[in-house]
Amino acid sequence: MKRIAAEKAVEYIEDGMIVGLGTGSTIKYAIKKLGELVSEGLQIQGIPTSLQTKKIAKQENIPLTTLDEHPVIDITIDGADEVDSNLNLIKGGGGALTREKIVAYHSKIEIIVVDETKVVKSLGIDFPLPVEVVKFGWKATKKSLEEFGCNVELRTIMNEPYITDNGNYILDCEFDRIENPEELEREINSIPGVVENGLFIGLVDDVIVGSKRGIITLGKEIASS
Ligand code: 5RP
Repeated sequence: MKRIAAEKAVEYIEDGMIVGLGTGSTIKYAIKKLGELVSEGLQIQGIPTSLQTKKIAKQENIPLTTLDEHPVIDITIDGADEVDSNLNLIKGGGGALTREKIVAYHSKIEIIVVDETKVVKSLGIDFPLPVEVVKFGWKATKKSLEEFGCNVELRTIMNEPYITDNGNYILDCEFDRIENPEELEREINSIPGVVENGLFIGLVDDVIVGSKRGIITLGKEIASS
């Protein structure tokens, strides 16, 4: 399901485009497909959203560039942890939410690829909201996040704090459900020490869902000339 969604999204990529490359297991299929197309002559430049994606894209011989060199991205393909019917998302399961959000913001077209298990009625039901925070004062930042009524856990890996590509921590905030994602996104980002949170509001043009019955698209039709 992940593969069919990812490979469908690659059909929107055309010669000469600057392409944002998201992070995660779904997007890996898109990067592999892009690698095949590049070996057949497709000319693009990719902007990876994580060190992990940079490594995979290099293995696939995809030419890379940076957002500093190309501040306008033609199209980005990325994954998500939850998608609602307004095309709002929770992202950051892979810890790359800050770079992913910067890249999404500067993309003319943002396409999200998911399997059907990621489509939810309300954000926050199945997946905790990841919040990237600076290390300094993180326990105080955690307390401020708890005031939103969520249970907050420092993300760890092998009993050590998980460190993002930006050198920060991730606090995973477990809500029963997120009633007003627009407001919560703004309020969380106003806490000093918060770098970014994983709510993606109004940034997405299309969501391609791989399901057992095939592909479903939730967004507006994107013209492919
Ligand atoms: C990384 C992300 C990923 O896109 C998200 O976690 C989905 O990952 P996967 O495709 O492996 O399920 O937001 O920060």
